Amino acid sequence: MLEVSIIKCLSDNFSYLIRDTKTNLVGVVDPSEFNPVDLEISKKYKKLDFILNTHHHSDHVGGNLDLKKKYNSKIVCSSYEKNKIPGSEISMSDKEEFIFGETTFKIMHVPGHTAGHIIFYTEKDNLVFTGDTLFSMGCGRVFEGTLEQMYNSLGKIKKLSKNTLIYCGHEYTKNNAKFCLKNDSQNTKLKKRFDTVKELLKKNLPTLPITLAEELETNIFLRCDNKKIKINLKMEKNSEFEVFSKLRKLKDEF
Ligand SMILES: [Fe+2]
Repeated sequence: MLEVSIIKCLSDNFSYLIRDTKTNLVGVVDPSEFNPVDLEISKKYKKLDFILNTHHHSDHVGGNLDLKKKYNSKIVCSSYEKNKIPGSEISMSDKEEFIFGETTFKIMHVPGHTAGHIIFYTEKDNLVFTGDTLFSMGCGRVFEGTLEQMYNSLGKIKKLSKNTLIYCGHEYTKNNAKFCLKNDSQNTKLKKRFDTVKELLKKNLPTLPITLAEELETNIFLRCDNKKIKINLKMEKNSEFEVFSKLRKLKDEF
């Protein structure tokens, strides 16, 4: 089993401390910075065997070198970005497996936000670390890849089991929900989720994790084939991909 603790970093990043309960291996996903991650490690496990990076952006790898230095951790990252990731050692490609004690992470290459972005999925524990590819009710900006790549990458995530728990890289949920509501205003599940999100944030709690099933009902970027959304956008005759492209553009300007 995998234990997951959420660590808030920088202004709106999430890093995740993970432990394989059977073997006591400890890892961190996307350490944005050293101090908050080090503090959590010192409170909990006092060691760090692995650092897992979803992509090379500095707010996901900022703690790599200092953590590696202090704990002698091994850094696992995308083979497509190994030259951009500080301290990279173990590089992984699409469909490869990273064995973390009794937990097997399936590596999925999901280009779009960056060219080599990967996500870590474990079927046994039903969870996925999605970095800046899928957010709750949103998706990452397309920086290095194409819109088509991002669309296909989200399509891969959509195919995972519906009860998969999603742990993403940022607390963007409230603003994402506002954008979804603007373009999917008749969605009652979305309205309900927005209220829940506001309550969680009022209590200073993270809005994650969230199940894929809930995302499929509320995340507009996963709902580009929805009739009402298409009508709202006056795109009834357009393809799902065209609707996605339009929404990504509107979100960039939101
Ligand atoms: Fe990023």
